[in-house]
Amino acid sequence: MRVLSGVQPSGKLHIGNYFGAIRQFIELQDQHDCFYFLADYHALTTVQDPQILRPLVSDLAAAFLAFGLDPSRSIIYRQSDIPEIPELMWYLSTVTSMGLLQRCHSFKDKVSQGMVPNHGLFAYPVLMAADILIVNSDLVPVGKDQKQHLEVTRDIAGAFHATYGTEVFRLPKPMILEKVAVVPGLDGRKMSKSYGNTIEIFGPEKAIRKRIMSIKTDSTPVEEPKPKEGSLYQLAKVFAPDGEQAWLEKAFDEGGTGYGTIKKKLFEWFLEVFGDARGRFEKLSSSPEEVEAVLADGAQRAREIIVPLMDSVRRATGIR
Ligand code: ADP
Ligand code: TRP
Repeated sequence: MRVLSGVQPSGKLHIGNYFGAIRQFIELQDQHDCFYFLADYHALTTVQDPQILRPLVSDLAAAFLAFGLDPSRSIIYRQSDIPEIPELMWYLSTVTSMGLLQRCHSFKDKVSQGMVPNHGLFAYPVLMAADILIVNSDLVPVGKDQKQHLEVTRDIAGAFHATYGTEVFRLPKPMILEKVAVVPGLDGRKMSKSYGNTIEIFGPEKAIRKRIMSIKTDSTPVEEPKPKEGSLYQLAKVFAPDGEQAWLEKAFDEGGTGYGTIKKKLFEWFLEVFGDARGRFEKLSSSPEEVEAVLADGAQRAREIIVPLMDSVRRATGIR
């Protein structure tokens, strides 16, 4: 099976991104042919400052490698290194009905949150379809919020086949990561960079500690048992090593342990879970040539599949 997924470099990576997406990408490497890319063209729909975008792209590339996406097992590349992607997007655009895109929740949500509805935002699912179809992916691991974009991708592929009377694309299936818990943010809502409630993975240690110490808690006194509904319990549950899970349960169920003590533990566990990746990230950040070389090689390997496919697309349409 061919697996493909992309991440937008539209903000600093946070622990929700890791547990909700990247951890699964790493596991899938052992079972499938995987393609993972930095969706930098997609990020332009929200980040429109080059000084901000550039470091976000290089940080995401370094993060992919630091977490263990492995160029010897996966093809890792940057969307903008593959000129055929926007070319395919154009062919797909001409078989995509306006109505299909008008029905997309993600577009409607972003507009209702006050984003200016530019054409890029509207056409976003067509670019995503091009990403997916261009390597003939079978499986696309994504969060629930992206499910509709996968349906749109299949519809667009079907429209292309119906228009040109030839089947050039495989129809991809979403791999919805249902079992993945939604990681809560500092304030109890879903952790998301658009809520400003994240804990960054690669930020300075001091700042992370401060974020963890600022997780919202209630006023239950130290000696009393504590409710488990809040973010602190859920985050601690995710990070606590097996040997400390019992301590954590006791801290909440029996009372006698203050929220501050639990937060300090959480910070220690965070460093245990991400310490190695943070070390690798530091090293990779100081050797950008190494990261660039991985991306260049990934683009070349991806294009070995893409170039012949695009030849079929151009022939099917009559452009060649
Ligand atoms: P954000 O909400 O911070 O903008 P994105 O929408 O860019 O994050 O998400 C990138 C990936 O990370 C997606 O696959 C998404 O499902 C996953 N993800 C983001 N936030 C969380 C979270 N709080 N819990 C679990 N997964 C998450
Ligand atoms: N839209 C996806 C997100 O916000 C990122 C993305 C772009 C993607 N192209 C893709 C995901 C192709 C999977 C396949 O998370």
